Amino acid sequence: MALSLSALFSKKAPPLVGVDLSSSSVKLVELGQGERLPMKLLRYAIEPVERGAIVDGAIEKPEAVADSLRTALGKAGFKAKQVALALPSAAVITKKILLAGDLRDEDYEVQVESEASQYIPFPIEEVNLDFQILGQAENSPEEVEVLLAASRREKVEDRVSIAEMAGTEPVVMDVEPYAIRATLDHVTAFLPNGGQGQIVAVVVIGQNATYVSIVLNGQTIFEREQSLGGNQLTQDIVRMYGVTYEEAEHKKRTGDLPDSYDEEILRPFVQQGAMDISRTLQFFFTSTPYSRVDQIYLAGGSAVLPGFAQEVAQQTQVPTELFSPFQGMEVDDSIRETQLRTDAPALLVATGLAMRRFDA
Ligand SMILES: Nc1ncnc2c1ncn2[C@@H]1O[C@H](COP(=O)(O)OP(=O)(O)OP(=O)(O)O)[C@@H](O)[C@H]1O
Ligand SMILES: [Mg+2]
Repeated sequence: MALSLSALFSKKAPPLVGVDLSSSSVKLVELGQGERLPMKLLRYAIEPVERGAIVDGAIEKPEAVADSLRTALGKAGFKAKQVALALPSAAVITKKILLAGDLRDEDYEVQVESEASQYIPFPIEEVNLDFQILGQAENSPEEVEVLLAASRREKVEDRVSIAEMAGTEPVVMDVEPYAIRATLDHVTAFLPNGGQGQIVAVVVIGQNATYVSIVLNGQTIFEREQSLGGNQLTQDIVRMYGVTYEEAEHKKRTGDLPDSYDEEILRPFVQQGAMDISRTLQFFFTSTPYSRVDQIYLAGGSAVLPGFAQEVAQQTQVPTELFSPFQGMEVDDSIRETQLRTDAPALLVATGLAMRRFDA
């Protein structure tokens, strides 16, 4: 299967499940057409993955990941067979190049392949390659800007085979930052004036890393990854209270921990996280022509930690909100709203993938 950055589906296409295979869990989202609004969240699932099964985006234990996917599909009653997957950004090389604007489609393929070989540090036969024509080049009207994406074939095949082991048919292979962008674009469209002129930062605090992306008028103007993640907090709980990792994961969510937890563990973690984000914004200001951010959205599983959004707002002096991918969507009656509010920030990749069903 080729990498796909582009739309594969028409409105009449069969249902599609967005599948985010991540280090702490497998996350699934299925969207459909709403009665009042264009999109409706039909069902979703978050199923833990055995620790060590996915490490830094690499699949170490395919059977364990496939098991989690199978369980997740069964639990939430997913019937759709077709799935959209994403590669982590580390597994993909993307590059914008300029090509002549008057080529035939076949010629673009040939050109892209020959250009790509210059940027890719391994043999072209071992690579899945895709490209998308972005439009006329800004300073050179005879040329078009082309986005190319390349990944080692084995990275793509690892994920495809997990999807197949779980009985699904992978039809889209996206790239995580693009899936995040798709979800973010959907949400910023609801800002005043469709978000035009607003500098919006999305901060995704996951299991082992925090990913920051800043967008203005449909362009990503800054991207960075930092090392803070929720795993660190879980490890702190394990060390401090002598519980197992699984217990610590559970207690972190329920808050069922001794009084000392809030002051000695949670607060310092949240403060550190907010300080890292604040430093990243400072770096954004010094390394780009921009000097403000208008809105921060916190996403990823750790975003919902008590006090996190407030602390980020205070340290950065930027309005900060928890991110919900499902803004402006209908939600199926079977989904519990309180649970969804907790889970939603972690579902941004899966939602971006599920939205590929709606591309023109
Ligand atoms: N309700 C919750 N309260 C506190 N922490 C939570 C909650 N839900 C998830 N987390 C934490 O969020 C982290 C997982 O976040 P997320 O699902 O975004 O990461 P991931 O996608 O598995 O990892 P990555 O993208 O870094 O590979 C874990 O550390 C988990 O403990
Ligand atoms: Mg993730």
